[in-house]
Amino acid sequence: MDPSRPKLIDFHGVSMTHIFTDNWDKVQNFKAKPDDIVVATYPKAGTTWICYILDLLYFYQTCPEREKSIPIYDRVPFLELICPPYPTGTDMADTLPTSPRIIKTHLPVQFLPKSFWEQNCRIVYVARNAKDNVVSYFHFDCMEKGQPEPGDWSSFLQRFKDGKMVFGSWFDHVCGWWEKKQTYSKIHYMFYEDLVKDTGRELKNLCSFLGLSTSEEERKKILQCVQFDVMKANPMTNLSNEPSLDFSVSQFLRKGKVGDWKNHFTVAQNEQFDEHYKQKMKNTTLQFHTEI
Ligand code: A3P
Repeated sequence: MDPSRPKLIDFHGVSMTHIFTDNWDKVQNFKAKPDDIVVATYPKAGTTWICYILDLLYFYQTCPEREKSIPIYDRVPFLELICPPYPTGTDMADTLPTSPRIIKTHLPVQFLPKSFWEQNCRIVYVARNAKDNVVSYFHFDCMEKGQPEPGDWSSFLQRFKDGKMVFGSWFDHVCGWWEKKQTYSKIHYMFYEDLVKDTGRELKNLCSFLGLSTSEEERKKILQCVQFDVMKANPMTNLSNEPSLDFSVSQFLRKGKVGDWKNHFTVAQNEQFDEHYKQKMKNTTLQFHTEI
């Protein structure tokens, strides 16, 4: 047990840690700009991947040097993060020198600052199937000292089912954003599994959502950069400079696969999970693939 790890707290009905709630007033009063692009995800759904894709779409041609010199977490502020001595996510967003701003958040839909809705901002949401998402989250929490103590795999899985994770229940998160998409047309709801299966098609669809006329040649270059192995070897995207991550425990870009859950769930855990899943997802039209 590491006593320096933060504890889970109940925050307006959602499990959180203080590093995502201590700057709450500034987060809630954040002033969005109409061309801001929000990347919203449940943790470990492929956030870094989509942030990097968006960054390349907007800035690869005009400022290629930043790809070699600025880590992705400095190019795409994490809105609700407050982790002294580093600048807060809101301050980073307020002082970003480039435009449009790409802003990352893991907030459930009800917590997104209202200014983003008022400014009619574009939002890119990425969802990942629950089984791979929880496996990735487990390995991440083992290596990230800024997260609560993960415990063993089976207790972690139970906590995930109970929604006792940082940023709350996966079920509420993916369904909440899905419901919002039915009434707010500027949400582009993507799936990690589709990105793995056909990154090129997803990139093309993303460009149409963003109203970008990126050439095929440019898209090809971007596709090259965002391959798993290329991102893993790139110090600007593999988070190797992030001091809170213990790379002797796991990797940030760990496997990048659909279906790794099969290496973690026992037969009994899988059956119980499927039963729980059926109940929790019975009122939504949202569907996931757990293999491709
Ligand atoms: P795994 O732990 O299953 O490997 P986030 O950025 O939201 O924290 O998500 C991290 C997960 O996205 C990790 O999953 C990571 O490997 C995966 N990922 C990141 N870049 C990827 C890429 N280019 N291709 C496939 N998966 C990627």
